Amino acid sequence: MQILANSKKSDLEIILVFDKKLPKTLTKTQKDALALRDYKGEGSCFIGEQFFIGVDSHNYPFPNALRDAVANAIPTIKKLNIATASINIENLQSAKEVCEGLLLGDYNFETFKSKKSQSKLKTIYLQSKKIDSKALQTIITEAEHICSSINFVRELINTPPAIATPKYIANLAQKRAKDLKINCEIYDQKFLEKEKMGAFLAVAKASANPPFLVHLTYKPKGSKNKKLPKIVLVGKGLTYDSGGLSLKPGDYMTTMKADKSGACAVLGILEAVAKLELNAEIHGILGLAENMIGGNAYKPDDILIARNKKSIEVRNTDAEGRLVLADCLSYASDLKPDFLLDLATLTGACVVALGDYSTGVMGYNPKLAESFNKAAFSAGELSATLPFNPYLRKLFNSDVADLCNIPSSRYGSAISAGMFLGEFVEESLHQKWLHLDIAGPAYVEKAWGVNPFGATGAGVRAVVEFIKQNTKE
Ligand code: BES
Ligand code: ZN
Ligand code: ZN
Repeated sequence: MQILANSKKSDLEIILVFDKKLPKTLTKTQKDALALRDYKGEGSCFIGEQFFIGVDSHNYPFPNALRDAVANAIPTIKKLNIATASINIENLQSAKEVCEGLLLGDYNFETFKSKKSQSKLKTIYLQSKKIDSKALQTIITEAEHICSSINFVRELINTPPAIATPKYIANLAQKRAKDLKINCEIYDQKFLEKEKMGAFLAVAKASANPPFLVHLTYKPKGSKNKKLPKIVLVGKGLTYDSGGLSLKPGDYMTTMKADKSGACAVLGILEAVAKLELNAEIHGILGLAENMIGGNAYKPDDILIARNKKSIEVRNTDAEGRLVLADCLSYASDLKPDFLLDLATLTGACVVALGDYSTGVMGYNPKLAESFNKAAFSAGELSATLPFNPYLRKLFNSDVADLCNIPSSRYGSAISAGMFLGEFVEESLHQKWLHLDIAGPAYVEKAWGVNPFGATGAGVRAVVEFIKQNTKE
């Protein structure tokens, strides 16, 4: 589906109805036709070549009313035998939201279906009497860059684990990086050994698919002698999380192909910032491994030495993400970033705390967390701060090592997991670091908002907006 800033006549006119207030410009015939169908502005309604979509902006601040309404209407519109549709919009903000609703709502994971859904709908015209078409086109192009990156992330996360192995993702990252002219280094097991990444390596030990660390670097053109903000992103890339020897029960294992969502989001963010040509130096570190069982598996009772020399007692091999991230965060710290963010489907506890729809934001700097929440919200993603405290930090003290990989109480374990990660972020960077637990919103088994069944691409819009807000033009 393509979106064009264009005042051409289309096969179908989409009319947005905000908070049940029907447009004042309706003719008597239109009003009568709507009354006949008892349409008062809720849900959707056809009259002739017009399609009315109700947008409920709710009684509380909520960023997604328009995005969701447009996304929800797409399946209906695609069933019609039409090639073009048009939408009239009032301002640039709603243009952005309409574009995102259209492009994100249009994705379906059907690569493995013999029969693909078919639609004649090709083009949506965005029309406005108030905005000049050049400004409108800029908004459209920007939304296309972000949403195509998100849909790429969704497709990669949805790809089954037998295909999307660490090596597959590393190769794909290299291919995309080449197309986008960004730098990509792929590091294999030998490098992890050289770097003494004992925690990362342990997680990957039992898998037939060896681990990789991918380091992507984006620098804007002509930026050689300029001092740009340096932002380092780290992603948890467990291409499958069986739980390891602390095996997950069957019900909890399904969907664990999505345990690579953090790494995939980081790849998508790098792709988006390169297309948007943002003015910052951005690094993406992907920690790619598979958590499996086998004769060579790491075990509860093992003691691992991480890259930063801290020793970790393993008491549960299913708390593996924090082990991979521990070494990646230590590696990332060496880059001396101005901001360090990690994205991870880290804990079920975060989903218990915040629900399926929100990212948990953690760190030692509550102001930074709040500024992230604001950026996420304005980009259409929900998030909330989960506060650190020293009592929770004590829960992963170990009798035999510096730290234990699981806390001694399961209460508050989204936060304690975040505090575990903090032990591997160099202390001078504590105020610059945020941990984003996307375990809830990364993957959905029930479509909501702009998200169809499966991977959502959570984190991409939020982090791109955060980067934009911290980047001087
Ligand atoms: N990948 C899981 C977390 C997860 C759970 C992601 C549900 C998405 C949906 C993680 O590796 C894990 O298994 N965490 C354990 C930690 C526990 C053993 C301390 C958990 O959350 O139960
Ligand atoms: Zn796990
Ligand atoms: Zn995991």
